[in-house]
Amino acid sequence: MKILVTGGAGYIGSHTVLQLLREGHDVVVLDNLSNSSRESLDRVRELCGREAVLYVGDILDRDILERICTEHVFDCCIHFAGLKAVGESVAKPWEYYNNNITGTLNLLAALRDHNMKNFIFSSSATVYGDPEVVPITEECPKGVCTNPYGWTKSMIEQILMDMAYADREWNIVILRYFNPIGADPSGRIGENPKGIPNNLMPYVTQVAVGKLPKLGVFGNDYDTVDGTGVRDYIHVSDLADGHIKALSKITENAGLCVYNLGTGNGVSVLELVKSFEKANNIKIPYEIKDRRPGDIATCYADASKAKRELGWEAKHDIVDMCRDSWNWQSNNPEGY
Ligand code: NAD
Ligand code: WQD
Repeated sequence: MKILVTGGAGYIGSHTVLQLLREGHDVVVLDNLSNSSRESLDRVRELCGREAVLYVGDILDRDILERICTEHVFDCCIHFAGLKAVGESVAKPWEYYNNNITGTLNLLAALRDHNMKNFIFSSSATVYGDPEVVPITEECPKGVCTNPYGWTKSMIEQILMDMAYADREWNIVILRYFNPIGADPSGRIGENPKGIPNNLMPYVTQVAVGKLPKLGVFGNDYDTVDGTGVRDYIHVSDLADGHIKALSKITENAGLCVYNLGTGNGVSVLELVKSFEKANNIKIPYEIKDRRPGDIATCYADASKAKRELGWEAKHDIVDMCRDSWNWQSNNPEGY
């Protein structure tokens, strides 16, 4: 297949591009490199001996979208491009709504105008808000998001549902990722956050590499196994594989489908720290801090629908994730 991958130079995008190329697909990436660099795609080429065509450009730019859709016939678009920093989205809501929602609307318009109506969207478990029950199934109602970033995902999902309802030619797969961590086992590509990381695993690896003195654990008084927040961490390579599996659903002309991509296992902050220490034989100093505003106690997936309908399930456990995150960080202490 020929696949348009927006945001393909980013963390999840680059791992997915690698897998797509390995599977023999042709890949065109559109990325404005606002949170990534060409280097990730250079390394993808080095890993698999094939390369994606890169357009450096913005999904807010209708002209480049029109040009790309004129120059190529795509069997599917996988749409990763977007801004994703939760705290920043609270400070800059307009930028988040504009980039993520206007950008997606532009992309959908260009694809529709060229009758290329197969679409896979990167959504997030954040659309469930604070879940009433865990594990979370796709039938659980969407909830109240605690930040503009989360609302962009929730609103884009609604836009996609309304478009698929109005025009049955669209085939859309919405993938709700839980907490992606890890890196390709080669250690050549991985997550490359700008500045001080917001997310747990990149913070842990930067403590491990000596760039940050110690981890702050945000709250130990939640109603969980040890009082710290519980999440469903998923290896980024498993996530990439979920997109490959989703492509087969697209070809079934199934309309719009929603899948959770998680392992189904809840892991607390302290459990993750212990797994990291054990897997890599490194001590992670930490201190307990106040709860982080907007955080929830527990969030993990029921991922059985993806297994049933896509034949997908996560293969990597938390030890693999800790080892591969560290392999990436220790080999690339300054990122790309
Ligand atoms: P990332 O920042 O590494 O990748 C996003 C890519 O999109 C970057 O390369 C960035 O340069 C590009 N981009 C941003 N705005 C753009 C624009 N206007 N035009 C063109 N390119 C643009 O993030 P990621 O972690 O790889 O996330 C990929 C997708 O998955 C995002 O949509 C994100 O919201 C979603 N997601 C991520 C997580 C997570 O924890 N990483 C969880 C759930 C969902
Ligand atoms: C995980 C746990 C923290 C950092 C976020 C987004 C979500 C999705 C994935 C995109 C929590 C604790 C963290 C630290 C800590 N992204 N923590 N110290 O908040 O579950 O999800 O990323 O869609 O939308 O909200 O992930 O990695 O930030 O936090 O104690 O320095 O680690 O409190 O319990 P989160 P996270």
